[in-house]
Amino acid sequence: MEKVKFGVIGLGRIAHEFCNDLLRSDKAMLYAVASNSEDRGKEFAEKYGAKKVYSSYEELAKDSDVEIIYIATPHVFHKENAILCMENGKSVLCEKPAGINKQELTEMINCAKKNDVFFMEGMWTRFFPISSQIKKIAETGELGKVRHIEADFGFGSWEDAEAEGRSARHFEPNLAGGAILDLGVYSVAFASWLKGKSPDRIAAFADMTKTGVDGNTVCAFQYDDRTTALLQCSICVNTSIQARIYFERGRAEINTFIKPDLMKIIYADGKEEIITDEYASKGLRGFIYEIDHVSECIRNGLKMSPIHSWDESMEIIKTLDEIRSQVGLKYPFE
Ligand SMILES: NC(=O)c1ccc[n+]([C@@H]2O[C@H](COP(=O)([O-])OP(=O)(O)OC[C@H]3O[C@@H](n4cnc5c(N)ncnc54)[C@H](OP(=O)(O)O)[C@@H]3O)[C@@H](O)[C@H]2O)c1
Repeated sequence: MEKVKFGVIGLGRIAHEFCNDLLRSDKAMLYAVASNSEDRGKEFAEKYGAKKVYSSYEELAKDSDVEIIYIATPHVFHKENAILCMENGKSVLCEKPAGINKQELTEMINCAKKNDVFFMEGMWTRFFPISSQIKKIAETGELGKVRHIEADFGFGSWEDAEAEGRSARHFEPNLAGGAILDLGVYSVAFASWLKGKSPDRIAAFADMTKTGVDGNTVCAFQYDDRTTALLQCSICVNTSIQARIYFERGRAEINTFIKPDLMKIIYADGKEEIITDEYASKGLRGFIYEIDHVSECIRNGLKMSPIHSWDESMEIIKTLDEIRSQVGLKYPFE
């Protein structure tokens, strides 16, 4: 298969991680990058071997050799950046959360349909082998029905959060900061992955930062089939990044469930099985699974991923909208 030519917009922290894996893919290659900063663009292009470097996102969107653009700007710019790319006929892989609310995501999906291009939210967790394995266990009923899900994802401290002049992306309301959209999106997507649907009832509570975004949030979900979930996300409390799934006949614990590298299955009789992911031992971060999946979609002429569909992104953002509404987190631009 001829390598799919990627362009990258927003050369920050995660774009580096992504391109480090892109370099190792035999299905895709880094073709062009664009940055608001000429120096950063040049430096980045040199480091990862991009053939072209642009000082505006629009120029990259208009490059006829680029097949798909990975958008790694703060979430508040995703809609504008993705629409620019899709209106120029480019497929888009957009970092999570794709849109910051249901309205934005609707506009993005409509734009993909109108321009007949591939579009996917970068929920990279989905493409790890351990994610497929836990989904299979849930679907086949090997351990019985899923009865309860727990997922935590927190870092930082309230002390740092309260420091004067704190303006990192995570704390900035004008950049759609807070834990819910940045980290909670993973837990909500994880519950959705296992249940295949949104919860029937949601109760959410948050402690807010001085800057007015959620610093630590907990959510309880209830489904009509007697399943519950407890999800926590935080930019002010350093918690584990672990998911625990309780089945009728055993349980599973997943390390760093957002990029799962180890899963322990504990059967009802107490026996344990450990499943590991070999990417961790190869210096890969795990973006390669997503990159390869998206590249196959492009080469097969798909406009939507069969693994992370537009409908599911929509269900996830609707749940996040509800959580934000319950804790009173509305952004200045909404
Ligand atoms: N999949 C994952 O594991 C993962 C992890 C972390 C973050 N993310 C997602 O990736 C996105 C980017 O996160 P990040 O941590 O990489 O952000 P970051 O380090 O702050 O980088 C964002 C980049 O976006 C560009 N940008 C354009 N306008 C900007 C503005 N007004 N303010 C700040 N940056 C601006 C900048 O690139 P140029 O100046 O080069 O144009 C900047 O370097 C977020 O949506 C986040 O949710 C995903």
